[in-house]
Amino acid sequence: MQLKRLKAFHTIAQLKSFSDAIAVTELSQPTLSRLVKQLEEEIGVELIDRYHRPLQLTPAGLFFYGKVDAILKELDSTITLTQKMAHPPDTLNIGFVPSVLYGLLPTIISKTKQRLPNLDVHLKDISSFKQVNALKAGEIDVGFGRFAHYDASIKQLLLRHERYVAALPNTHPLINSVDIHLSELQDYRVILYHQTHLPASNIKSMNSQSINNENFDSPALIGEPLLHLFAKQSAWPHQTTTVSDVQVALGLVAAGEGITLVPDSLKSVRTEQIIYRKLVHEDATSPIYLCALNNPIHPAFDILLEVIYEIYEDRGITYRRSS
Ligand code: BEZ
Repeated sequence: MQLKRLKAFHTIAQLKSFSDAIAVTELSQPTLSRLVKQLEEEIGVELIDRYHRPLQLTPAGLFFYGKVDAILKELDSTITLTQKMAHPPDTLNIGFVPSVLYGLLPTIISKTKQRLPNLDVHLKDISSFKQVNALKAGEIDVGFGRFAHYDASIKQLLLRHERYVAALPNTHPLINSVDIHLSELQDYRVILYHQTHLPASNIKSMNSQSINNENFDSPALIGEPLLHLFAKQSAWPHQTTTVSDVQVALGLVAAGEGITLVPDSLKSVRTEQIIYRKLVHEDATSPIYLCALNNPIHPAFDILLEVIYEIYEDRGITYRRSS
């Protein structure tokens, strides 16, 4: 089967118009019609309903389009990855979640560039869960995130666990406490910001106004990471507000709208309005993962990892070394 025929059909089906497909493919109407006709003859199925305007696909054509769309996308990303493998790039595309940007990421990048002066680094703000598809599509070469991925084509290294701290507005009654127990925070509005995208069955549906002991099963069933930490201490925030990311959450805390928990490296953000306090719970931590495709591995990967471990050593940060 000729790829040209599949691509002609795909473009017409996608644009639902022969004339738009002519403009995009720069092929003539007779050529496009001939390619689709040949495809239909080859598989013995009518794909385009020629009796309706605007153009429609037959039910079989609709099914075929869905499959061809997935195959052509896979082919594109395979070609991109193969080209990268054959011509080692001097660009490293890094996906990251906002919460690692406030920590060591800038230092890691500048040290990596010192070691590899010809390396161009591009940064892309992208949630942990979207990093898997971005790696597979060749949009990023490595990703730094806070959630584990379970995908056979992804290599994932746990770098370290970072302690959570409580972020309180500077008018909050607990700002003079040295160590805070999560149960002391349950009476205040908690601002949630994680984009967990966990399967619905793993997430306890929560009505922010009616959370109490009876509404929860076990902490393990609570998908939202901050509520999970509270639940582990048998604490149940009475009121929650969910926002799109950690910067917005800290903005609301600064405005006195509530409190939140953030990884320790964010404690330099908005310090005029926010007081950060340690939590007594040593296991209230957020992991940092480095992920990349198993194959091909970017040529800068080993140096990047070496730099990260060196920074941890220099700063006396407890970490987990992977071979
Ligand atoms: C860290 O804080 O450990 C870290 C931050 C960004 C990238 C990698 C590690």
